[in-house]
Amino acid sequence: MKAEKGNIFSVFDEILQREDKEKLLEQRAKVIWMTGLSGSGKTTVAKGLEKELHEKGFLTQLLDGDNVRTGINNNLGFSEEDRSENIRRIAEIAKLFLNCGIITICCFVSPTIEIRKMAKEIIGELNFLEVFVNTPLEICEQRDTKGLYAKARNGEIKDFTGISAPFEEPKSPDFELNTNEAEEESVNSLLEFILPKIKLENAVV
Ligand code: ADX
Repeated sequence: MKAEKGNIFSVFDEILQREDKEKLLEQRAKVIWMTGLSGSGKTTVAKGLEKELHEKGFLTQLLDGDNVRTGINNNLGFSEEDRSENIRRIAEIAKLFLNCGIITICCFVSPTIEIRKMAKEIIGELNFLEVFVNTPLEICEQRDTKGLYAKARNGEIKDFTGISAPFEEPKSPDFELNTNEAEEESVNSLLEFILPKIKLENAVV
């Protein structure tokens, strides 16, 4: 039945709900939000996690800075305002996947408490799992896989997170990855944490 309010006719009770899609996919959807410095290993661990989940029969979607920033967010830079808009759009996109029943893994520096709070509010607290990839700056800089830290140090790149722009550590992340672990160990420990939360037969945890 349609609920009438003024001239707006709500059809929410007539369209398919997230639960219907979760049932079809036999999984509970979550957004796994990986935060950490550039080069901390967010995407590497996320790819490993996605592969494991896929092999176990879960439907996933991975979103990361490099693919989103060359696509839908290609008009945004790294000012505070642009980073905030970057994360706002990403959170809205993640919410669309979530409502489709899909386990969505987001890998973004998302450097401030406020920016992550915004993402959590858009996505919904119960749907949002914050994972801190806690690799110290010295290690990220030593790795410098993209050569960006060197450029940030010599001033070629401005507002670079950790060098000339802030990174605020999460105070109480849902899960924290330890840098001393090998990649495979990180993937496995994160997988163990995630699995009970995405199994349909389990209560919302
Ligand atoms: S966020 O701060 O807005 O969340 P996002 O995760 O989308 O950042 O993009 C970060 C990636 O962009 C980094 O991994 C790095 O490859 C690249 N990058 C380029 N310039 C910067 C910069 N000034 N600060 C941080 N990352 C940058």
